[in-house]
Amino acid sequence: MSFSYDEPQGSGGETRQAADGDVATLTTQQGIPVADDQNSLKQGKRGPTLLEDSHFREKIFHFDHERIPERVVHARGYGAHGFFELTDSLADVSRADIFQRVGERTPAFVRFSTVAGSKGSFDLARDVRGFAVKLYTQEGNWDLVGNNIPVFFIQDAIKFPDLIHSAKPEPDRNFPQAQTAHDNFWDFVSLTPESFHMIMWTMSDRAIPRSFRTMEGFGVHTFRLLDAEGRSTFVKFHWKPRQGLQSVVWNEAVKINGADPDFHRRDLWDAINGGDFPEWELGVQLFDDDFADGFDFDVLDATKIIPEELVPVRIIGRLVLDRVVDNFFAETEQVAFCTQNVPPGIDFSNDPLLQGRNFSYLDTQIKRLGGPNFTHIPINAPKCPMAHFQQDGHMAMRNPKGRANYEPNSWGAADGGPREDPARGFTSFAETADGPKQRIRSESFADHYSQARQFLVSQTPIERKHIGDALVFELSKVERPDIRSRVVSHLLNIDATLAATVADGLGLALPDPAVAAREPI
Ligand code: HEM
Repeated sequence: MSFSYDEPQGSGGETRQAADGDVATLTTQQGIPVADDQNSLKQGKRGPTLLEDSHFREKIFHFDHERIPERVVHARGYGAHGFFELTDSLADVSRADIFQRVGERTPAFVRFSTVAGSKGSFDLARDVRGFAVKLYTQEGNWDLVGNNIPVFFIQDAIKFPDLIHSAKPEPDRNFPQAQTAHDNFWDFVSLTPESFHMIMWTMSDRAIPRSFRTMEGFGVHTFRLLDAEGRSTFVKFHWKPRQGLQSVVWNEAVKINGADPDFHRRDLWDAINGGDFPEWELGVQLFDDDFADGFDFDVLDATKIIPEELVPVRIIGRLVLDRVVDNFFAETEQVAFCTQNVPPGIDFSNDPLLQGRNFSYLDTQIKRLGGPNFTHIPINAPKCPMAHFQQDGHMAMRNPKGRANYEPNSWGAADGGPREDPARGFTSFAETADGPKQRIRSESFADHYSQARQFLVSQTPIERKHIGDALVFELSKVERPDIRSRVVSHLLNIDATLAATVADGLGLALPDPAVAAREPI
């Protein structure tokens, strides 16, 4: 029988005590062997429990503190370990170590999630799915914190709290649980035309995947790749499932939620444990400034895709998940992904949603994981050598060794600690930023309906029918008629047939297109 705890640094190694042969002795956290774990210490057979019972108190105190805050979004998730293998070098456009040597494997951890539901919600909710990948590269952790849908509801991170407030249960009644069956949600999106491309995706079958294994993943934003000379190439990241892309239909989703709310996590656990390791290809869309300038939409607008007909997806690697977690809390619950974690050779664009995310994740994780040392938790720790002078704080397990904990210092190689390395270190793209400081949305972000229509047209007739049915179902839960009508007005700007179908399904008169919330298209 094997039973062990990971030994934190400085522990001095294995401390297991043996009760009988190979069976470990139960101990307190202080290592005191426990003689009786069934009865608290009492004064007499039927007397009061004694304050002196330190084992009892420690056990209860620890239990009382087991819960940490759930993630403010993406609370329900499921993770697994695996690896990324490079199959096509990107050395021509990026100096990132992970993209240099074909055939080399990089350890990976992936967490799939729903967005709006709480930790205990059901797997088959109509919702976006998170697809967060941590790649433990030899030059630090790269977190590609994506979704299974390539666009997003909003263009600017300042709208994120509003979007999420509108999608979570309403503050007075604390229902509905479902993201979409909501007066507040539809009120918000009907006043936020930029969300309608994403609405088409979330009302489609993409939002009820059959399995985590049959979902695509997308980095969503435009990122940059940088070569050794600092030259930039724009990039969009795609994960393509080798299992194919599959969804369930709504009636199946409803039944599965009732019969087995853990359907997706059970499916992933069983597949990996059964040796049927899910696999995704990593694809990149690469383009330069000239393409970006000539494109109909702004590449910094996360409500838009770059059509694959214009910029084909180049497959450069594969991701395989081949190991379930040892402990759900230690790994899946405590893992912390952050868009700002990128190694040298990858950089951000000015996408205002990405810029806000770079701030938000670290901030929330310092609270969620109890302080600034959550990178000491094994699932979050880089697997490459690291050295810095950050120290102390709650739960510090890896303080710098030696005398010097500052720089510059003159202690020499042995005692002086790490030094900056201008050649190997992370450098940002030397982008020129100009113009007045102002709160503004670029007019290049203005067309909210063309790509929504393009997505609808790309769907097969039965898939289009599912979108109409989903809109009728979700909007039929909305009590206020004016909100329903406002949504239908937006649909008119996307597709007259869809708008008519939904209006008909809801028993609404089709609004006069002249008064619809029309945007120039
Ligand atoms: C969590 C994706 C937009 C704030 C997550 C997770 C994913 C994700 C996959 C779950 C990570 C995990 O499994 O632990 C995305 C995508 C976005 C987006 C693809 C848009 C393209 C935003 C924005 C903000 C934000 C705009 C805020 C400005 C958060 C926060 C968490 C989170 C606070 C919880 C993190 C934690 O507690 O560990 N997001 N998100 N997200 N996201 Fe986003």
